[in-house]
Amino acid sequence: MPLTIGVPREVFAGEKRVATVPEIVEKLIKLGFAVTVESGAGEAASFDDAAYRAAGAQIAPDAPALWSAADLVFKVRAPTPAEIGLMKPGTTLVSFVWPAQNPELMQQLAARKVTVLAIDSLPRTLSRAQKMDALTSMASISGYRAVIEAANAFGRFFNGQVTAAGKIPPARVFVAGAGVAGLAAIGTAANLGAIVRANDTRAEVADQVVSLGGEFVKVDYEEEGSGGGGYAKVMSEGFQQAQREMYARQAKEADIIITTALIPGKPAPRLITAEMVRSMKPGSVIVDMAGEQGGNCELTEPGASVVRHGVTIIGYTDLPSRLARQASTLYASNLLRLAEELCKAKDGTIDVNFDDEAIRGLTVIRDGTVTWPPPPPKAAATPAQPKPAGAAPAPAKKSGHGHGGGEAASGTTLAAMFGVAGVLFWLIGAFAPASFLAHFTVFVLACFIGYMVIWNVTPALHTPLMSVTNAISSIIAVGALIQVAPPLGGMTAERPSGWILGLAVLALALTAINMFGGFAVTRRMLAMFRK
Ligand code: NAI
Repeated sequence: MPLTIGVPREVFAGEKRVATVPEIVEKLIKLGFAVTVESGAGEAASFDDAAYRAAGAQIAPDAPALWSAADLVFKVRAPTPAEIGLMKPGTTLVSFVWPAQNPELMQQLAARKVTVLAIDSLPRTLSRAQKMDALTSMASISGYRAVIEAANAFGRFFNGQVTAAGKIPPARVFVAGAGVAGLAAIGTAANLGAIVRANDTRAEVADQVVSLGGEFVKVDYEEEGSGGGGYAKVMSEGFQQAQREMYARQAKEADIIITTALIPGKPAPRLITAEMVRSMKPGSVIVDMAGEQGGNCELTEPGASVVRHGVTIIGYTDLPSRLARQASTLYASNLLRLAEELCKAKDGTIDVNFDDEAIRGLTVIRDGTVTWPPPPPKAAATPAQPKPAGAAPAPAKKSGHGHGGGEAASGTTLAAMFGVAGVLFWLIGAFAPASFLAHFTVFVLACFIGYMVIWNVTPALHTPLMSVTNAISSIIAVGALIQVAPPLGGMTAERPSGWILGLAVLALALTAINMFGGFAVTRRMLAMFRK
């Protein structure tokens, strides 16, 4: 029996988003579901009832009608107690829930005997889960909108201009916290022509900042800022002191500060003090995106825009909602991807499969039983952490020989190989001419070193390795050319014998493949960076 997806009108004050949009309704129907949308649900995001109806949805006249029709509810904000009261037992709810911050809500939902998939609890580092990652899609919208809000409150151009009336310097933007939202803000501000600087406690984001046109400003204090899962951790007092000094310098220079710094489950770090606000130029703007978690700036008033010491401090907590149509479309796509995962058979029914790590992570309540927090992930999806000093070295992979057996077995094989090689050398030494032996030794050593070097290089370094091999190729090419070319006039050198010529031609052919292949790959790589 196909299920009905119900999409209520959001009741949270000022919430303009809607959990699905007409173009996604069609796709949900193709998955076998029926879709019912509450009348006026999409109005604030510029989607009217007629558009939903045209896409194949039923329109429910009011909330009670909607909730009683729905087996699966798609929502943006967590339900209010009144909405929970309207839910049928056995309903599955998909929305933002924030289980850690809302224990009471969790209890009310569990008491209602429903299943709840909290979109904010998705294991984000699973690459399979990225298409469902509503936190990322909402954060990128917020980052973009934060710059637009700043531009609106700022009394100057972002880009520098030379006009007949005089030279206008570009705006200086400082972004604190270069996560998803911070990076979106950096890209947007740089595209508008501002000079953008950014800082984050996680050093690994420095390259991403630069690739988006920003400059990464480091805190002059060595401390690893990663707290696992791609998130930050609370830093030591020493680091915070050094960071405050650096931020105080940046605040004096910046025209606009955008702060996005958050630490999961902790209050937002206080990065911009009242003193720093006072040191900013009049007319400057701060957009504090961490308002809901207490704010990164001491003077932020969450949800409002205020002027303090001549600086506009914007603490809006509804940035995605200020781009309601775009935010709704992206959120609806995230939920469609989730629906596809839940309904693999495309028959309009769902399977909340706990063997699937993404679904397990999302499910915070199943049939009235709280299943949050989920068990720790089976395999760490985060990049390998550097080993602490003094840690026992992992059993090293022995230069890629691929021997399956234990160390003893591989040791014996190695000894046997050396034995055979020694006997072969002795035979060649006894019977071959002396000059051949010298060349042969060099050849064997070259093969051995080349093999060892290439095998031990990590794939990320294959490009610089290629340039080294190209250089070696050219040496081989020169040697081979000397053998192949006819002796120059006046020289009495003998023509090399047929098989040496053959070998030289073969060497030329192989090195040519390496060299021209190198050029071709380099061209392709350069093309990737051209717009
Ligand atoms: P967030 O909203 O929790 O934090 C925002 C940023 O603030 C983070 O970059 C954090 O390092 C920074 N921050 C925290 N404390 C700070 C301080 N005292 N000073 C300066 N900066 C501070 O994080 P968000 O944006 O939700 O995600 C963070 C990261 O998680 C992403 O950049 C990404 O690397 C990772 N991620 C990975 C995903 C994946 O692998 N599929 C998906 C989503 C995120």
